[in-house]
Amino acid sequence: MAKLSLDRILQSQGVGTRKWCRQLIDDGEVSIDRVVITDHRASFETEGLSFTLFEEIWLYREHVYIALNKPVDIECSRKPSHRPGVMTLLPEEFGWRDVQAIGRLDHDTTGLLLLTDDGAFNHAISSPKRHVPKLYLATTAEPVTQALIADLMAGVKLHDEPEVLAASFCRQVTEHQLEIILEQGKYHQVKRMLAAAGNHCAALQRVAIGELSIASLGLAEGEWCYLGAEQLTLLR
Ligand code: URA
Repeated sequence: MAKLSLDRILQSQGVGTRKWCRQLIDDGEVSIDRVVITDHRASFETEGLSFTLFEEIWLYREHVYIALNKPVDIECSRKPSHRPGVMTLLPEEFGWRDVQAIGRLDHDTTGLLLLTDDGAFNHAISSPKRHVPKLYLATTAEPVTQALIADLMAGVKLHDEPEVLAASFCRQVTEHQLEIILEQGKYHQVKRMLAAAGNHCAALQRVAIGELSIASLGLAEGEWCYLGAEQLTLLR
């Protein structure tokens, strides 16, 4: 249970700078339980709190956990240089909350990307020690062969990687598509593994992380949703 002043509450939810939050409160733009609050020092219990700002209801969230179905031509880096960044697909308040991607997808990879402003959670999920399985659907330039599947399962040696990297699952889907599950998160790992095994990745989609899949979330490309406690357990 935590009590916070209203200006801090607004700031923590990504409304904007503390100064701007105070201004909004002073101007009578914020109400709680239909009562306009003009004292920015007034404090409130945050658990279960909701407030209204410009007639929009905001539910207090200590942290946000977000799933996005990333389209192509979007960069995941914090300071995108060549293409729009992933934050352009999300409401502005997430930027103010310092929401960040959990790991990265290449600009031309589509599919499930998780984001959060919970640093400990981000660290825990992206830690290599966690071995969270990630399922990808890869489209290949050359036909998929059983030898390719066998090589990916047995492991391939990548330049600059000390250890041989192997898929924990791999199966052919169509003549030019395969599903592959990786438990590591090395740079361009799927593409480099396919290249090392003598093929070429023409397109890549991340289908699931742990038991959480794009299909179960029902997200079309470019769409996002909040993840609840139950969905977060699917990542473990
Ligand atoms: N492997 C890749 O090669 N690219 C990604 O975006 C993710 C995994």
